[in-house]
Amino acid sequence: MTDTLTARSRAGSPAARPVRLNVPMRAVPAPIADRIEQDLGHLDPFRQEEFTLRVRRWWPDIVDGLTTLYGGTHDLIDLAAGLIGSAARAYADRDPDLLTLDRARLLTPDWLQRPDMVGYAAYADRFAGNLAGVGEHLDYLAELGVTYVHLMPLLRPREGDNDGGYAVASYREVRPDLGTTEDLRVLASALRGRGMSLVVDLVLNHVAREHEWAQRAREGDAAYRDYFYVFPDRTLPDAYEETLPEVFPDFAPGSFTWDDDLAGWVWTTFNRWQWDVNWSNPRVLAEFVDIILFLTNLGVEVLRLDAIAFTWKRMGTSCQNQPEVHDLTQVLRSIARLACPGVAFKAEAIVGPRDLIQYLGTGRHVGQVSDLAYHNSLMVQVWSMVAAGDTVLARRALRNLPATPTTGTWITYARCHDDIGWAIDDRDAEAVGLNGFWHRRFLADWYAGDVAGSWARGLVFQFNEETGDKRTSGSAASLAGLEAAATQEAKDQALARIFLIHAIAFGWGGVPVIWSGDELATLNDPHWAEETGHEDDNRWAHRPRLDWERATQRDDLRTETGKVFHGMSHLAAVRKSLPQLHASSDPEVLDDGIDRGIFAVARRHASGPMLGLYNVTQDWRPFPWSVVERMGFTQPVNALGNRHSIASGDDGYVWLSPFSAWWVVDA
Ligand code: GLC
Repeated sequence: MTDTLTARSRAGSPAARPVRLNVPMRAVPAPIADRIEQDLGHLDPFRQEEFTLRVRRWWPDIVDGLTTLYGGTHDLIDLAAGLIGSAARAYADRDPDLLTLDRARLLTPDWLQRPDMVGYAAYADRFAGNLAGVGEHLDYLAELGVTYVHLMPLLRPREGDNDGGYAVASYREVRPDLGTTEDLRVLASALRGRGMSLVVDLVLNHVAREHEWAQRAREGDAAYRDYFYVFPDRTLPDAYEETLPEVFPDFAPGSFTWDDDLAGWVWTTFNRWQWDVNWSNPRVLAEFVDIILFLTNLGVEVLRLDAIAFTWKRMGTSCQNQPEVHDLTQVLRSIARLACPGVAFKAEAIVGPRDLIQYLGTGRHVGQVSDLAYHNSLMVQVWSMVAAGDTVLARRALRNLPATPTTGTWITYARCHDDIGWAIDDRDAEAVGLNGFWHRRFLADWYAGDVAGSWARGLVFQFNEETGDKRTSGSAASLAGLEAAATQEAKDQALARIFLIHAIAFGWGGVPVIWSGDELATLNDPHWAEETGHEDDNRWAHRPRLDWERATQRDDLRTETGKVFHGMSHLAAVRKSLPQLHASSDPEVLDDGIDRGIFAVARRHASGPMLGLYNVTQDWRPFPWSVVERMGFTQPVNALGNRHSIASGDDGYVWLSPFSAWWVVDA
């Protein structure tokens, strides 16, 4: 539907005369327009109009999402008016710097897809003591080429064990030992000044048992009891548990916890003190809208939607990836677009490849949900390739992924703060003659160092005796062989593997994110269990306190630290220079006629072709020159290797040395 909108130029300007714009947009109902008038009447007409334009742009998405979620049960106009009112107030309060950022982002909607995006993720305290400390290390991040900084949960968690901060007691306070909300605002602004975007976790699926909503529920307030899933007896919990997978079978078995104060069983997917919130209650949605607007007005640029896959429950299912999850995201994002369109959403959905793509928006949600999602599949396949010295399964799995929506971008990574869950699809394994279960078992055992010949030193995380499932903790360096390496040759191979694994992540397209410590080749922390609250959770083995003493070696290329740091900053710098790595062009994993030991990723881009070649084995491997020719290269060089020319041997192949990584482009 198209209608005509009258836009006025800025009041008081000499050329103040009406401009007629023909913009295809929906009209919004009168109660909403009144609400905007009421909340924004005091603003400059230009800004009022800017907000109204946004409402008209996003109105259909808001209504669409709300109708699916709460259609039969609630007054949608009333609901929408409340949410839009929150957005209007947040827009009115938004800092001038952030308004400028929003406008800049609207002019560069592909900002996350550009090859100059490079991420870094760390716990603020373990990286630099506190938020102010992080601000003192921006030069270090700039040296690495970082433009995106994910600081792990930093809002006030419950005391004691809190799942690394993922049990939030207050979304409006910063963890006291890290600083204050004012410190967060200052840090966000300092980062922005250095061209770095601040990324913060928003835990959507649960709150701490100590959060005010949970406390009020425990005090008997019925409205707050409805913020959670509480059952008087085991009937429904037992029925749900028939199909619910165990997330932490080892230290938190079961998905429901008895609470004396509630006199009931409360849904706790993760730990018993992380209470799942009830998103089928629109009051929960309204609360989270306010939290989002609060955080984004402090200068947070990307919200990581933690455990988003779990937010909608349905009997008889795994209660993950339910279609309503995407409607929820759509509503949250459309509302955020009204107040702070420069802000992006990142889905943390560590799910199977076919479910994963939905988080970037498919079907009626294209362009409406998250802007970013973790490429869990790529991460798993990379570790699988180097363990097996074989790329056939990875080719199959990655070639089979549905197309990535053009509005969405991957987070590509080798490691993060979590364990690696071996998400190998049974069907993919079978198609290449493997058994999914045994391949997963092989990977878990290999990376635990439990298989003869394994160079890895990881730890088994959450062994599930019932299903036989094992996951893996460990730092990139320990998993890639540096910890176990006894000879110089073994060390060199481990260093080459670390570079190779990161080169694949940096060369895929999307935002590559370095996990803190990995840039310094940090090994597993042998003392991980000594900190209170960490003793049962070996993910702390790969969540090191950054060793600043070690970091002083980063320029010394004779050290392992220097080699790895230099490798990563080199990847970032080269990546920035290659327009081919813009995430809008999908990578194509080559298969036909390619040696099993080589992972080959082609990109066709208007600025010229690019070919990522990765030898995942410890032998020399051939790559057919005919493929290079067919892709239309005229003067192929390796952008990662000082732009040295590459050429065919007499045998019609170009040979890659063990564990080498090449980014082939035209000179
Ligand atoms: C996410 C986090 C993980 C946490 C879980 C529960 O998966 O990455 O560390 O345990 O959510 O919040």
